[in-house]
Amino acid sequence: MENRAQFGTRAGFILAAVGSAIGLGNIWRFPAVAYENGGGAFFIPYLFALLTAGIPLLVLEFTIGHKYRGSAPLSYFRLNKKTEWLGWWQVLIAFVISTYYAVIIAWAMSYSVFSFNLGWGKDTESFLFSDYLKLSVDAGQTGSVVPGVFIPLVIVWAVTLGILFKGVKKGIEVANKIFIPALVILFLIIVVRALTLPGAMEGLDAFFKPDFSKIADPGVWVAAYGQIFFSLSIAFAIMITYSSYLPKKSDITNNAFITGFSNSGFELLAGIGVFAALGFMAQSQGVAVQDVVSGGVGLAFVVFPQIINEFPAFNEVFGFLFFASLVLAGLSSLISISETYVAAVSEKFGISRNKAVLFGGGLSAIISILFATQGGLLFLDVADYFINQFGVAFVGLVEVVVIAWFLRKLGAFQSHANGISDIQLGTWWKVCLGVITPIVLGWMMFGLFKMNLLKEFETETGNYGGYTDAFVLYSGWFVAAFAILVGVAFGFKRWNAKTDAESYKEVS
Ligand code: ALA
Repeated sequence: MENRAQFGTRAGFILAAVGSAIGLGNIWRFPAVAYENGGGAFFIPYLFALLTAGIPLLVLEFTIGHKYRGSAPLSYFRLNKKTEWLGWWQVLIAFVISTYYAVIIAWAMSYSVFSFNLGWGKDTESFLFSDYLKLSVDAGQTGSVVPGVFIPLVIVWAVTLGILFKGVKKGIEVANKIFIPALVILFLIIVVRALTLPGAMEGLDAFFKPDFSKIADPGVWVAAYGQIFFSLSIAFAIMITYSSYLPKKSDITNNAFITGFSNSGFELLAGIGVFAALGFMAQSQGVAVQDVVSGGVGLAFVVFPQIINEFPAFNEVFGFLFFASLVLAGLSSLISISETYVAAVSEKFGISRNKAVLFGGGLSAIISILFATQGGLLFLDVADYFINQFGVAFVGLVEVVVIAWFLRKLGAFQSHANGISDIQLGTWWKVCLGVITPIVLGWMMFGLFKMNLLKEFETETGNYGGYTDAFVLYSGWFVAAFAILVGVAFGFKRWNAKTDAESYKEVS
């Protein structure tokens, strides 16, 4: 009867979930976000977000996928016909993220090759922006496609779609069983080396020294929740899709705790490694650590190459290890991000998995070429900001409110998870999802909309990133709105008869 693809082993599922969670967000995003938002003091909102929203939502999404055995839209449809659009909204957010996420992996792939002879030279900043990305156009213009980005991008998509073609057990599971242990080994080598460099302790000091004045700042809480959602791959259809491939007899709650703590453990490790290395660079340049920190693109592709230049020995090897780690972490996440729409499209239209990979993945690959143009970095910057703030965090809020308040399903889901899991969920789980998370996220989203709508269209305060209104409107707001609108539109289309969407019988 049931012929849905399945993970072969429990370890296979956990590695895939951890592989999805650990990604670019952990290595290049977390260290800078933590530092900018109070250093050691950031861990208070971070841990609060992890324990009251991150892990409880992970349990919720694992339960939904396991119980309804479908992609996110199909699972939401089976939960209640009126909520299918919520699944599509999440899938479309994942789709948008996949289009630019692939490009960052492509950069990392190029940089792994540049490591062989430290090809970025001494001026790593102008190397990145002028020599490599060829960024010489105004925001909103594309210029021409940059071959140095386009070629690795083709490889990234070939690997990702190749793995997805092979299916859940032979593709996703096998890839993660190789990628994740390899990633942990590579990364541990870098962290141990970084910790033994002179100046490392000053770096850690800057990272962990708490600035408690920041805790009262709502922006710090927004940053903590944003980081947890992106990093744990929750609220963008991934974990529902992956857990729909779990065998009937599977642990849910324990798996969620393992995934959540492994992800945060790796994140912490990345923070330690990066700041130890920054401390070393600050010392060798005779400046303070604050003067060498930067976030996102700057940290991974400008500052890290500088650090590698200054390593005492084996510079090329450590450069390669760092960028290869980014590639591995990124690929295992991109696979999961793309699987959301592969599964959804295949079920909705009743087409084979291979066709869904070809059309869904192919379309994302084609759109991603936009980010491989001379103006690509600027489009990427704005799309990333808006899809995370007004996509992931917003849909997370809608998800908990719909499930906890409108459908009142937390009790049924708790019984489902408790029926098969080692760890038993208590009232705390319902309080976290039904009360704490909606209140904190609601307050956050209100502040965020207010800040962005009022501030971003007032010329004296300026738009996000200082971009023009028009650019922010069509490459930011439109992208976030596209995910909701197209999601709702998909919800109106009927399921293909082959999918048997209606046949699901509620047995809690
Ligand atoms: N969870 C993935 C990351 O951290 C998307 O990059």
